Amino acid sequence: MLEFKQNIRGNVALGVNPLGCKQEVLNEIDYVKNKGTFAGPKKVLIIGASSSYGLATRISLAFGAGADTIGVSFEKGPKNERNLGTAGWYNNIAFREAAEKEGLIAKNFVQDAFSHESKQEVIEYIKNEFGGKVDLVVYSLASGRRTDPDTGETYTSAIKALGEPVVGPNINMQNQDFYIETLEPATEEEIAGTLKVMGGEDWQLWMEALKEADVLADGVLTTNYSYLGTELNRPYYGGGTLGLAKADCDEKAKTINALLADINGKAQIVVATAVTTKASSVIPFFPVYCIGLYKVMTEKGTHETPIMHIDRIYRDMVYGTKAEYDEAGRLRPDSWELDSDTQAKTKALIEQLNKENFNTDMAAYDLLYKEFSVLSGFMVDNYVEQDVTIEELKALEY
Ligand code: NAI
Repeated sequence: MLEFKQNIRGNVALGVNPLGCKQEVLNEIDYVKNKGTFAGPKKVLIIGASSSYGLATRISLAFGAGADTIGVSFEKGPKNERNLGTAGWYNNIAFREAAEKEGLIAKNFVQDAFSHESKQEVIEYIKNEFGGKVDLVVYSLASGRRTDPDTGETYTSAIKALGEPVVGPNINMQNQDFYIETLEPATEEEIAGTLKVMGGEDWQLWMEALKEADVLADGVLTTNYSYLGTELNRPYYGGGTLGLAKADCDEKAKTINALLADINGKAQIVVATAVTTKASSVIPFFPVYCIGLYKVMTEKGTHETPIMHIDRIYRDMVYGTKAEYDEAGRLRPDSWELDSDTQAKTKALIEQLNKENFNTDMAAYDLLYKEFSVLSGFMVDNYVEQDVTIEELKALEY
């Protein structure tokens, strides 16, 4: 019998419970089904589909709106008993199995979304097997590296401040420690690298390739998840390297809007709320902001996990009647997080946190830790332990 161990290094999860991942996908499907159906897109391509926001999008649109989906992600399968692969690998499988049971198409591409080949393979599939053009393209990729498909050069993103160093508290979930960290300002090379990896260039390349191949439906929509935050995290997020990359996505949205004009298409930046994901857990200081924010939002009844937030975005806003846009035309489901009372209470709470009290009832460390664990299939609601062998896991097909 395989033993699943939660192995954490810093704020990076290395262990995985494949059966827990499956249960979490089923939990998220139940969440959406309990909300009922809504009229939405029918043929969806999700780039970065295997975890958190991308996976939640796929679940919401498949089980809420009955969409056929193509998911592109970069994940690893099991090799042996010590190396079981990544959570997203099992999420992809659990999603496909559940969607196919409902008669939906659920095609997984596990490959480097940044390459030209990857885009061409997806295009060939849409042309020959998907049964129709795509009416929604969701860009939900988060990565630390990107190889430019034309030059072959590999770029690395850096989550850094601009100009001045930033000093503040951070949390290490491996040691359950609260400590003071200094974030150095980025070099020119790090700024350029972050723009290349997390900016909008690859989103634009995808949309150009899809348009050129004539696989986009008239009226196609493409969404891209951004984050703006507030003064509480601006020095290291919105005002740092990641903020520049997000601003680049705003610019690329304009280019894509022009590209799609003749097919009545639209590029939509969606400013999403702060949630616990693999990508956000490694943003310096951000976990401290999250445990303050989550505590306040839980008390107000506004705290959301990715599936709750994403389902609200598509059901109520994009395909519903409750959309809120800002002056730049961005969709703003993050208004609950940015609510002035929520921010004031979060600020007051964070200022009181220290080594002794950060993991007490004062803040929401336990919730952050649970949400972080769930990402790898641990601490999952409704999970029942079962026996599974490495051979059985290896036999699963994505
Ligand atoms: P995540 O780390 O959970 O998911 C990233 C996805 O990208 C995974 O499916 C992964 O397999 C895929 N991926 C990474 N490299 C790839 C590659 N080379 N080829 C194909 N797939 C690849 O990230 P998360 O947090 O869901 O982020 C998605 C987007 O949402 C990002 O743009 C992020 O900035 C944005 N966002 C996140 C917020 C947060 O608090 N987590 C808040 C607001 C926006």
